[in-house]
Amino acid sequence: MQNELVIVLDFGGQYNQLIARRVRECGVYCEVKSYKTPVDELKKLDPKGIIFTGGPNSVYDEKSPHIGKEVFELGIPVLGICYGAQLVAYTLGGKVQSCSVSEYGKTETHYDKSSVIFGNVKDLPDTAISWMSHTDYVAEVPEGFRVTAHTKDCPAAAFENADRKIYAVQFHPEVNHTQHGIAMLDSFVKNVCQCRGDWNMKDYAKTAIEQIRAKVGGGRALLALSGGVDSSVACALMSAAIGDRLTCVFVDHGFMRKNEGDEVENAFKDRNLNFVRVDASERFLSKLEGVSDPETKRKTIGEEFIRVFEEESKKIGKVDFLVQGTIYPDVIESGTGDAAVIKSHHNVGGLPDYVDFKEIIEPLRLLFKDEVRKLGTELGLPDYLVWRQPFPGPGLAIRIIGEITREKLDILRDADLIFREEIANAGLDRDINQYFAVLTNMRSVGVMGDFRTYDYTLALRGVTTSDFMTAEFARIPYDVLEKVSVRVVNEVAHINRVCYDITGKPPSTIEWE
Ligand code: XMP
Repeated sequence: MQNELVIVLDFGGQYNQLIARRVRECGVYCEVKSYKTPVDELKKLDPKGIIFTGGPNSVYDEKSPHIGKEVFELGIPVLGICYGAQLVAYTLGGKVQSCSVSEYGKTETHYDKSSVIFGNVKDLPDTAISWMSHTDYVAEVPEGFRVTAHTKDCPAAAFENADRKIYAVQFHPEVNHTQHGIAMLDSFVKNVCQCRGDWNMKDYAKTAIEQIRAKVGGGRALLALSGGVDSSVACALMSAAIGDRLTCVFVDHGFMRKNEGDEVENAFKDRNLNFVRVDASERFLSKLEGVSDPETKRKTIGEEFIRVFEEESKKIGKVDFLVQGTIYPDVIESGTGDAAVIKSHHNVGGLPDYVDFKEIIEPLRLLFKDEVRKLGTELGLPDYLVWRQPFPGPGLAIRIIGEITREKLDILRDADLIFREEIANAGLDRDINQYFAVLTNMRSVGVMGDFRTYDYTLALRGVTTSDFMTAEFARIPYDVLEKVSVRVVNEVAHINRVCYDITGKPPSTIEWE
């Protein structure tokens, strides 16, 4: 049975993924499609509703993305957000013009609760804060429409034609700053689109397992397991589907955190699947001898990883399917290949397909990260795997500045463990999205007892972020930082100084290399 579907039509807004995630949080399956998708194709998908995203353009600029009137003739409910709202007005004969006062940020908004969208939101006051970001505004709504919200500078902050099921909001209901915004989206999908909300990870797991079984038949599949959330959940799902016809190869490059290799092995070895752990640490270390340039490190590790993986897959023999842990944000973002390369990411889930396989299976390609986590829990994976913070493919190799040696790896592992322990002790492990230690290549003078020391400086990094594209440094309390610093200097030889990184991204990146 097919799930109810809502389509988010992307007009170039930065919140396209967020809107889709919010709709899914309402229990309704949602896909992001380009605004160029022909109306016929949209119709064939038989969505219960269509949401137009925001976008950076002006509707009256000829080059900006537009859409034909036919989309409004399908009888499918439409919600336009920000640029999407202006597009609704413009396309249906309203008037859009440049604001005399642009609205940006939290804005007091007055709602008319006779609107089905606002009227069904529990506890929505007549006036509440919405998040605005626009330099054009709808000066006149199209014929047949009525205004259902306004602000001081925006006379049509929301408008609708309930008979035609067309709704528009100038503000962004999907961002947390809009009070009751998510409930408004919920109200649109439930009360206007009439969705029941049939999307949940339990049913998804069941359907995905059936589909995988149908595809793989009696064949065998191979998966590169890193112990990260995506590959772990892909493994659990595949294993539930095909049992011991799945082989997982965990290439231990020797740059894992303290005890991590054993933890990954313990988590998977008794799961009734073929688990192969390859200890390749010697091999990786010797390849990196004398290498201190970050990009060379990344490329060397990425390449060596593929070589080891290929060798192992040959040993295993005839395998038809390669499993990849691709998730939905990767799918949405693929195709926009014109961004500058800041770092060449090595993702063990993202092997190139020149490894000789009949087909690639991507069992998570429809899921957002939070859904992947829910699915992992549904499949019985332990919390420490499901809630694991991201860990880069090249591991500690890019957290040791300069050349990598065994000694430096040991120092960093011990220091990093102390940092993680103290963050957990302070109950901050779920609030800080990523935190780790970096061994700088700098040494300085200190004093221990009555002796002079000349040892390394350790840097601590902690960030809060929702998407890892931008980040703020985490406001870790001083007493927690102090505990870490005292413990590190006392317990880990060759570190005599500890710093905390207080830069955001941008201008820094999260990792140091
Ligand atoms: P940056 O340092 O670019 O990192 O701000 C953003 C996020 O990506 C992670 N990261 C990687 N993940 N392979 C990965 O799978 C990599 O090569 C890689 N490099 C960085 C980083 O930990 C952060 O979460």
